[in-house]
Amino acid sequence: MGQNPDANTEPNPRHVAIIMDGNGRWAQKQGLPRNEGHRAGVRNVETIVDACHKLNVPFLTLYAFSAENWNRPKLEVEALMRLLEQFLKKQRSNLLENGIRLRVLGRLEEMPSRVRKQLEKTLEETAQFSDWNLSLALNYGSRTEVVDAAKSYALACLREEIDPETIDWETFARHLYTADLPDPDLVIRTSGEQRISNFLLLQSAYAEYLFPEKCWPEFGLEDLAAAIQSYRQRERRYGKTGEQVQNERLTTQR
Ligand code: FPP
Repeated sequence: MGQNPDANTEPNPRHVAIIMDGNGRWAQKQGLPRNEGHRAGVRNVETIVDACHKLNVPFLTLYAFSAENWNRPKLEVEALMRLLEQFLKKQRSNLLENGIRLRVLGRLEEMPSRVRKQLEKTLEETAQFSDWNLSLALNYGSRTEVVDAAKSYALACLREEIDPETIDWETFARHLYTADLPDPDLVIRTSGEQRISNFLLLQSAYAEYLFPEKCWPEFGLEDLAAAIQSYRQRERRYGKTGEQVQNERLTTQR
């Protein structure tokens, strides 16, 4: 990985995206059932939303439920949906008080109606905010996202709203679930697993990745601060050479 020769010259990440892994293993370590791990995971979502505010990270995206997670045991899926519903009920006032806009990335229409109702209410009520942003990837997978975007793009072409000859990344990206979000700068997967699991594959083309060992329920503010510190010491090159990047940095500093 490219190390930044001047430690900490990379600015704070604007957008941090997290794969919250290790709830089950954390629970096992404590001799608790898996669902207790998810319960602790939800509590930690509250901690990290708050930490982003404190650490000045305006965009946070959390991988809360993948399109493949429906294949887990029925009871676990039901427990996760219940936790999500409770989280939304409890967090609505916090989001409103702190001016945090909620977004959902994924096929919302396939979520259970009780969860969908809570989500739709909070999405609408927080749509007025822009300074702080929490996105939940729910029933999400990058491949489904590309298929949905291609379909939406093709339909717009058929309606003659776009000329397919003019397609480029920017016009296509407007059809992704993340249309109005900046790309993630830093992607974190907790629990030491080093996989991307179909998460924001296109948007993270130039993101920096970190794989801390801690499981999600134990990954707190200080761990996030350390991850940001480590990110800031990297050198982001976007396909250029290290020398080019350093020269550009010197020119902008002059
Ligand atoms: C991975 O841990 C975690 C999940 C599949 C779900 C993440 C969900 C939450 C933290 C709760 C719901 C979220 C919100 C926003 C309310 P795992 O069960 O795969 O852990 P393991 O790999 O140790 O088994």
